[in-house]
Amino acid sequence: MFDQRTTCIVVVGAQWGDEGKGKLVDVLAERANLVVRYQGGANAGHTVVIGESQFILRQIPSGMLHPQATCIIGNGVVLDPETLFGEVDELERRGISISGRLFVSDRAHLVLPYHKLLDAAAERSQGIGTTGRGIGPAYQDKTGRRGVRVADLRDRAVLLALLGDRVERANAALAAMGAPAEASLEQHVAMLDQFAPRLLAIAADTGLLVHRAVKARQRVLLEGAQGALLDLDHGTYPYVTSSNTTSGGAAVGAGIGPTAIDGVLGVVKAYTTRVGNGPLPSAASPEDDERLRKLGGEFGAVTGRARRCGWFDATVVRYAVRVNGLTGLAVTKLDVLDTFAEIPVCTGYEVDGAPCDEFPAEVSRLDRVRPIYETMPGWQAPTTEVRRLAELPGAARAYLDRIEALADTPVRYVSVGTRRDQIIEV
Ligand code: IMP
Ligand code: MG
Repeated sequence: MFDQRTTCIVVVGAQWGDEGKGKLVDVLAERANLVVRYQGGANAGHTVVIGESQFILRQIPSGMLHPQATCIIGNGVVLDPETLFGEVDELERRGISISGRLFVSDRAHLVLPYHKLLDAAAERSQGIGTTGRGIGPAYQDKTGRRGVRVADLRDRAVLLALLGDRVERANAALAAMGAPAEASLEQHVAMLDQFAPRLLAIAADTGLLVHRAVKARQRVLLEGAQGALLDLDHGTYPYVTSSNTTSGGAAVGAGIGPTAIDGVLGVVKAYTTRVGNGPLPSAASPEDDERLRKLGGEFGAVTGRARRCGWFDATVVRYAVRVNGLTGLAVTKLDVLDTFAEIPVCTGYEVDGAPCDEFPAEVSRLDRVRPIYETMPGWQAPTTEVRRLAELPGAARAYLDRIEALADTPVRYVSVGTRRDQIIEV
């Protein structure tokens, strides 16, 4: 995607997350100067496979695996220090140095242990099926103007006063929710005393770093987490995450203006999956659900939960194209469909007997969607070793052409396996 006129690119998920953004970012990061995470937190699980090694990154940008790339955790991210430094230590153990290459925004909000207690307590009544990482409560505290930011670590007296107040508030909220657990102030102080020096060593006005890179026409990759249908505004509310996963969130969460962005790559699976609760209109039959899950290894990278599987849903992807302004698509996991004799594609919806062209706002309406399917012939041949579009079986090319036509957006990449080299650049 990078070329002379396209130097600042956003990569977003165009379904319900787990589309394979980590792999696409890894591939694009080979030529990037800067890779920036801009929203979400340790709820994300970006899996990258290099040789025999598998890396699952939750908090650190996937670009970290490329030694020339500088990585940034932007102001829009909610930062879990324990997860972050667990990953840093693990990467260093495996020979990948982060020294001088990783920066965190001093405006980013921290995810603290009490956020996880609040997440668990809210789940008991709301049943969203969250990852339990404290993401929702951390963003609630941010919008409620009672968060703790990286910058607050600079003055220990200020921090101690803040923590005293925050832990007390959290405990009041927990008690009101009838939660059995209580947060401990001592534990919070000890944890931040442990991590503050390491965090402050990499804290910066990261918006300025991104701005300078954009100005200098360096290659900047903005790495989204989750997917469009989990976006707080555009997703299947209330079964969504608590941030703007769509490309607009990239400007806010990286600290730059929208005019800096030159292109938006939407990553879609060749089928559809969803983890956590909420509607999935193109859900497959129990047998196909099982088969897709097994072939695709569809288990959550963060929670290990089984992902629900369904067919490619053009209404979802058209919607994602619109709300993200996608300029290209990356179709991943095409190889998972290699053995199917026939492949259903959901081309549209009907609700209560009437056509429904646009993605509905209400979950109750989504629950009544009747997907309209057309059936494409499968190719029943392995695609995992294919590296050029022309070498794909005719039926596989026809399948990609159909996706491109339904989404009205060009397919720029096709992924045919988990390894770094298993990618077709169109
Ligand atoms: P939360 O982000 O932990 O609050 O969870 C809210 C919803 O988003 C749940 O349905 C989660 O399963 C889903 N979710 C959060 N992060 C991811 C992700 O990285 N991939 C897929 N689903 C996610
Ligand atoms: Mg994931």
